[in-house]
Amino acid sequence: MQQRMNERGIILGIETSCDETAAAVVRQGREMLSSVVASQIEVHRKFGGVVPEIASRRHVEAILTVIDEALGQAGIALEDVDAVAVTYGPGLVGALLVGLSAAKGISYALGKPLVCVNHIEGHIYANFLAHPDLDPPVLCLTVSGGHTELIAMRDHGCYEVLGRTRDDAAGEAFDKVARVMGLPYPGGPALEQLAKSGNANLISFPRTEVEDSPLDFSFSGLKTAVINYIHSARQRGEKISYPDVAAGFQKAAIDELVTRVHRAAASVGTRTIGVSGGVAANQALRGALTALALKSALEVHYPPLSLCTDNAAMIASAGYFRHRAGEVSPLSTNAEPGAVLTSLQHCSGQARGSRIHRVPVEID
Ligand code: KG4
Ligand code: ZN
Repeated sequence: MQQRMNERGIILGIETSCDETAAAVVRQGREMLSSVVASQIEVHRKFGGVVPEIASRRHVEAILTVIDEALGQAGIALEDVDAVAVTYGPGLVGALLVGLSAAKGISYALGKPLVCVNHIEGHIYANFLAHPDLDPPVLCLTVSGGHTELIAMRDHGCYEVLGRTRDDAAGEAFDKVARVMGLPYPGGPALEQLAKSGNANLISFPRTEVEDSPLDFSFSGLKTAVINYIHSARQRGEKISYPDVAAGFQKAAIDELVTRVHRAAASVGTRTIGVSGGVAANQALRGALTALALKSALEVHYPPLSLCTDNAAMIASAGYFRHRAGEVSPLSTNAEPGAVLTSLQHCSGQARGSRIHRVPVEID
C-alpha cells in the first residue's frame, strides 16, 4: 500500500454520516473538481426525522452511483485518485459503515492511502475550500444538527475546543421547535422561512449561561421554553402567532451563538472567524455575525450554502491537509459514532508559530 499521495493531491472524499450520501473530488485541498450529494431528506420527512436503518439502506443503494458521478463530473478515472478521505465519525454507525467500507475497498484495490476524517473537522474545512486565501489561525463555530462547537484552530489539523453544547445542538433545537409547530423536517430552513414574517421582539425567550463555562452552550432550556409556550397557549385555546414564536426563538438561539463567538474571539485573540455546518446556512445568523464583525473589527467567513450542509468536498479537503501532514489511516479503522475531534500529533502543546494565545485582546 502506497503511504504518500502523489504530488497532484487528488483526493476522493466520501461522506455518509447521516442522511446524505456524498462523494467529491478535490485537488490540493482547495480546488473542488466535483461534489455530488444524494439527499435522503424526502424519505425521512415522512417520519419527522432521520430513521437510522433506512439511512443505512439508502446509503448502500446510492454509494457506488454517487462515487461514479463524482469521478465523472471531475473528468477523472478511479485510478487517478491519489488518496481516499472518508468520514469515520461522529454519526450514525450503520450509515458511517457504508462510506467507510466503500473507501477502504477503493483504497485497498488501488493501493492508495486511506485518510479517515472527523465529520466536524470536515465542516471546518468547508471554509478552506470556499476561501482559498484563508489560513489558520481561525476561530471556528461549527453549528449543525448534531454539534455546536467553538474551536480554536491554531494550524492545519491543530484544534482546541473552547466551548460546546451541554445538551441539544443548535440545529437540533431548530428541528425540535419546528416539529412542534408542525413544520416539515428538517425544521431549520422551514423555521427560518416562517420567522421572516414574524416580529422577533414580541415574545422573549430565555438565554442560558452555563455556570463557570462562558463559552459553552445550552439550548435545551430555550427549546423547552418555546415548546411550553406553544403547549400552554394551545391548552388555553389562545391563537398562536407562529411567525412571531419562530422569530423570537431564532433571535434567542442566534444571540446565544453570537455572544459566545464574541467572547471567544476576545479570549483567544484571533479576529478571523469561520462559521460552518447546516445552521450556518441561516441568513439571520449570518446577518447577526456580520453585524458583530463590523462592530468589533472581526472577519467572518461562511461557506456557500451547498457546503454548509453535509457534503464530501469538505471531507476531501480536510483529508488532504491531514495526509499532507503525514497521516494515513489503517484499513482496520472502525466507524466511531461518538468520535471526538483530535489534533495531529505534531500539534501537542502549543502549535509552533500559532498566533492564537489565551490572552484577552480588546474586542468591542
Ligand atoms: O451539517 P448538517 O447538514 O448535518 C449535521 O451534521 O447535523 O446540518 C443539518 C442541520 C439541521 O438541524 C437543519 O435543520 C439545520 O442544519 N439547518 C438550519 C438551516 N439549514 C439547515 N438551521 C437553521 N436555519 C437554516 N437555514
Ligand atoms: Zn454535518
